[in-house]
Amino acid sequence: MNLLARSLAVSLISFASLSFTAQAQTAQQGNPNFKPQVGQAGKDVIWVPTPDSLVNRMLRMAQTTEKDFVVDLGSGDGKINIAAARDFKARGLGIEYNPDMVAVSRRMAREAGVDKMVEFRQGDIFKTEFFDATVVTMYLLPQLNLRLRPILLDRMKPGTRLVAHAFTMGDWEPDETSVVENRYGYLWIVPANASGNWRVNVAERAVGNFTMDLNQTYQRVSGNARLNADIEANLIDPELRGDQFKFALRAVDGRVLTYTGTVAGNRITGTVTGNGLNSTFTAERSGAPRQIHSGTDANSRAMNN
Ligand SMILES: C[S@@+](CC[C@H](N)C(=O)[O-])C[C@H]1O[C@@H](n2cnc3c(N)ncnc32)[C@H](O)[C@@H]1O
Repeated sequence: MNLLARSLAVSLISFASLSFTAQAQTAQQGNPNFKPQVGQAGKDVIWVPTPDSLVNRMLRMAQTTEKDFVVDLGSGDGKINIAAARDFKARGLGIEYNPDMVAVSRRMAREAGVDKMVEFRQGDIFKTEFFDATVVTMYLLPQLNLRLRPILLDRMKPGTRLVAHAFTMGDWEPDETSVVENRYGYLWIVPANASGNWRVNVAERAVGNFTMDLNQTYQRVSGNARLNADIEANLIDPELRGDQFKFALRAVDGRVLTYTGTVAGNRITGTVTGNGLNSTFTAERSGAPRQIHSGTDANSRAMNN
């Protein structure tokens, strides 16, 4: 091939690839005047919008405020993010695979006057990072919730609120359920991992230091404390909500004291109260925490493949 022919061929290839990129960009941008049809195909699930009354209830279950960053996984026409911004002043991100729906949601956000507060991004929920969310909303399918479950439990900050329309998360029991006009909304609060062996030091020396061994499945914690060489006792009514951990324990002298603390990595700090006592405690975890969910069970593994 002579020089002219070669440079012509190169120009043709670059032109072809440029126009291909331009076409792809147009497709990516989507049509803001697209008319969505309820039931239209989506990548992993069809589009059906959540009714306004349940959107409002889900955002209330999550106790959404202006401090929150709400991520809707599969955001459709953007109505959940738009309601969160308009009614709760919360910023947000909607992740939606269909570029036309992304364009529609951007237009609707502009019309609602909340386009500065919400972003809509074209993408696959399984390939997009959303770890800065404080509230995650979903109206997907049971198997998609299960596929998301290990990501939500392991990667989201403790205390992140997850709200789902219609579908649960396998054996991870919701913290709260609401039914609005016969439709179910579920709330889960991502728990800290409090499992393992802890050494607890109580500032009030009379109470005595102790060790405790905690088991945890999702947000449910149980465990025993070894108070001294002779006495082991169970934790009474342990309760974990996000990073807030509360339990009672009968001390060696017989008093039932309440421990209320914050779990941060391998440390818990908080207060010890009851029977006129008002003291503080710290706990340090020795060894590694245990896995708190069945994220690698056969079911989830199959879903992730
Ligand atoms: C049942 S609709 C829910 C829409 C909105 N969240 C609501 O509750 O009104 C599910 C949406 O997820 C989108 N979707 C399906 N698979 C997806 C994927 N892998 N990544 C991003 N979006 C997806 C669909 O296009 C559809 O708009």
